Amino acid sequence: MTEARLEAWLAETRSFAPSSEFTAQANVGPEIYAEADADPVTYWRRQADRLTWTKEPTVTLEWDLPFATWFSDGELNASYNCVDRHVEAGRGDKVAYHWVADAEGETRTITYADLQKMVAQAAHALTELGVKAGDRVAIYMPMIPEAVVTMLACARLGAAHSVVFAGFSAEALSSRILDSDCQVVVTADGAFRRGAASPLKPAVDDALKSCPNVRAVLVVRRTGGDVDWVEGRDHWWHELVERQSTTHECQSFPAEQTLLIMYTSGTTAKPKGIYHTTGGYLTQCATTHWQIFDVKPDTDVCWTAADIGWITGHSYIVYGPLVNGVTQVLYEGLPDSGGRDRWWKIIEQFKVSILYTAPTTIRTLMKWGHEHPEGHDLSSLRLLGTVGEPINPEAWMWYREHVGGNRCPIVDTWWQTETGAILASPLPGITATKPGAAMHAIPGVSIDVVDNEGHAVGNGEGGYLVVTQPWPSMTRGIYGDPERFKDVYWKRFPGVYFAGDGAKKDDDGDLWLLGRVDDVMNISGHRLSTTEVEHALVGYPLVAEAAVVGASDATTGQAIVAFVTLKLSADEAQRDQAGVISDLRDHVAKVISPIAKPRQIILTPELPKTRSGKIMRRLLRDVAENRPLGDVTTLTDPSVVNSIADLMSQGVEE
Ligand code: PRX
Repeated sequence: MTEARLEAWLAETRSFAPSSEFTAQANVGPEIYAEADADPVTYWRRQADRLTWTKEPTVTLEWDLPFATWFSDGELNASYNCVDRHVEAGRGDKVAYHWVADAEGETRTITYADLQKMVAQAAHALTELGVKAGDRVAIYMPMIPEAVVTMLACARLGAAHSVVFAGFSAEALSSRILDSDCQVVVTADGAFRRGAASPLKPAVDDALKSCPNVRAVLVVRRTGGDVDWVEGRDHWWHELVERQSTTHECQSFPAEQTLLIMYTSGTTAKPKGIYHTTGGYLTQCATTHWQIFDVKPDTDVCWTAADIGWITGHSYIVYGPLVNGVTQVLYEGLPDSGGRDRWWKIIEQFKVSILYTAPTTIRTLMKWGHEHPEGHDLSSLRLLGTVGEPINPEAWMWYREHVGGNRCPIVDTWWQTETGAILASPLPGITATKPGAAMHAIPGVSIDVVDNEGHAVGNGEGGYLVVTQPWPSMTRGIYGDPERFKDVYWKRFPGVYFAGDGAKKDDDGDLWLLGRVDDVMNISGHRLSTTEVEHALVGYPLVAEAAVVGASDATTGQAIVAFVTLKLSADEAQRDQAGVISDLRDHVAKVISPIAKPRQIILTPELPKTRSGKIMRRLLRDVAENRPLGDVTTLTDPSVVNSIADLMSQGVEE
């Protein structure tokens, strides 16, 4: 459908009601909302019964705004809940993961019984490396089973894992290791992407030059490439882990034991160590996975096509699905490793029934053409999900028609690293969905859209998304920085959680997410702050000043556009602009990650500033998106903007 026809059609049809067949078999019915509304705290206490507790909690919520604890006197072990209890219940032969390598034809089947043994061995190995409850372990790994095993082994020991996306640079890794004082790092020699091996361990070696507290590095041999070795510090996984006992008695920990730290970009140059604890986080991951994905553990095959380096992988590849005891696909490669129909082959081969991914991937798959999904039997699919950024109606409709065969409900799930689990989404057997809308808060969660003064907006109006009541999987804070936690999330609208997202309520009161309202960009569903990229750019010796904005992009949602002034004179800079731009892009990749490389860098003699010296990003965003320029009266020199706009139109960019 063309965009215009789609709009006309949407104006008329507006929503897709769930089919009666889906509703008839759904895990939850509409009464769930009333049940949760009547008493959200008691509702969540009932949800906590999804877990096996060694000591049942008697208190549910303690709320000392903005600090909450949930189920605080309860005790449990996260890895027991994810693995052992399924084996003890006689489901050891059930497949936990169909691991699918980057290379076609290479797969591994891991049952819950296998997983139990692997986690036991890894837990013993980490213990041998001195890891104990309360410690932090950094994980910097490709999408291989050992990554999940390491996370579960940490959880088993009561140590917090801090998974750092393997696409991050050595510098980004070292700052994260230092911030939470990780003393052990688990990694691999390298990773495969589209058939090519790329090294990973050198980045760890580099990072550790500035991390004197790291005493051990555990290395999985994945690619077989040569690696430098630091005797006494470095250990091969196949030597240390595989000689350990395959049974491991686990101990229980308080519900508020820190389970994980995940660094995410905020509005400053320094990423925030968002941490989550055990009982509340697991409760909400399992509940949302059950209700929103409508999982049937006996028959479903779930595939969350995300990386474990992000929160989506933590909550919906590891903790939610494992607590629920389902079978999953764990895929190492890229959507086009081995060809543009690789995804559809995987779905066909493993009879995937629930697929969860990001709009940016859907748009890419859409660009490659519907002949790819149509060439495969996708009849096993029964539910589709999206996450990470607003989804445009055209991509939503393509997903529905060409992937879901017009029969699968789509759940557009809104949440964040900080929220730990989904907070807004349709429920598939209940909600009539609208293409591009997250619709409403899930049962037991209170969301609103407020204006500048914090007053709830009416239907048909837009504003800021806030969460008005605590929820079990909310972050317990920023690691080591409680003040920053208060300032970032709880100050803008006192008493409620400010998510940093714009949203609107449509005429029916349904919720649409509109993107970030702060200096956070969303590039292909990856969160990056403008300041973080600016900081990297000004770290380059030639750069005097830099301003970065997120400009809309048809495939990646947003793309990074950087405006840079150099220390050189204009004449000198003119000589080798292309070279400077290319060096700058490489520099950003080195300091942060290739995902942070600006799409465009515009070298400009000056940046537009207000009289008080603030860079006018709004104007730069207008320039980057070719919009007519608004009010420039507060600018010190309005002609600067025009000259930047001229530079862009001359194509001085990369
Ligand atoms: O802007 C929102 C966007 O992603 C941000 C959170 O990013 P991160 O912490 O990396 O977590 C991503 C995966 C949970 C949010 O502030 N976002 C997430 N889901 C949606 C979304 N924007 C619109 N619609 C969504 N469904």
